[in-house]
Amino acid sequence: MKVLAADIGGTSTKMGVCDRSGQVERYREYPTEALQGGPHLMERLIANLAEYGEYDAIAISTAGQVDAAAGTIVYANGNIPNYAGTRIKDALEARFGKPVRVENDVNAAALGEACFGAARGYRDFLCLTFGTGIGGAIVLDGKLYRGADGVAAEFGHMFTHALGESGDAGKAAFYESYASTSALVRIAAGIDPLCADGRTFFDRVNQGDERMGAILQAWVSETAAGLASLIHIFNPPAIIVGGGVMEQEPLVRMVEKRTRELIMDSFQGVRILRAELGNKAGMLGAASLWMA
Ligand code: BGC
Ligand code: NA
Repeated sequence: MKVLAADIGGTSTKMGVCDRSGQVERYREYPTEALQGGPHLMERLIANLAEYGEYDAIAISTAGQVDAAAGTIVYANGNIPNYAGTRIKDALEARFGKPVRVENDVNAAALGEACFGAARGYRDFLCLTFGTGIGGAIVLDGKLYRGADGVAAEFGHMFTHALGESGDAGKAAFYESYASTSALVRIAAGIDPLCADGRTFFDRVNQGDERMGAILQAWVSETAAGLASLIHIFNPPAIIVGGGVMEQEPLVRMVEKRTRELIMDSFQGVRILRAELGNKAGMLGAASLWMA
């Protein structure tokens, strides 16, 4: 079976034709242009999917809360305006005449890592990705835990600060405002406008820039605080961390070190593992929905 899979992230969209062995053919990637909104995103998605032939089904992994049965977007935050309510399954089935499944991006990534990557062999695990936002997945007994309304595991929306960023008393602040990659870059750019992307930021850290090193340390602490809370709630055997920034093994080990300082002794058995499938996890996991 061949599945045309696309993974719509806040920054880029990846697509390709996946098979049962985890191979991806005809891979392509383009900027999502998420801030231009849901209708624009759908137009570009359809135009790019139309470049492919010879497949049996379509699988979409996307940022935002997904009703997997209906194949619709239930809610998406400001990272993708006017995306809520989008009927992805209906639109793509009507256009391409193939069956379509839709899944949240990090739920899909977790399935990908379970089939082909770092989560192989684990019946229970949590998965988080750090990017434009922070997404999550809870896998229990080999299955995604979806919650009462199908939208569980929005880990990026855990409130890790009682007050908003500027100490705004009226507004609490959540994990992804402090621990996403976009938060890291935003904070760095606030100190030095030349540090406006992740690559420049990490180059500066590696060159020994102390201000940027301190920002990284603070970000590691924010990241670890969220992981430590999740560990205390779930007592998972493993947490898989993904997203471009976590491809750096030394950074994962910094996060692990700080997390272990925060968690109680009885939880230290947890393993913190770097995702293995990189930007193909969402595509492969979404495709696996057709291959079970
Ligand atoms: C969204 C999630 C998504 C995550 C990663 C968050 O901002 O609320 O639905 O999984 O970003 O893309
Ligand atoms: Na999720």
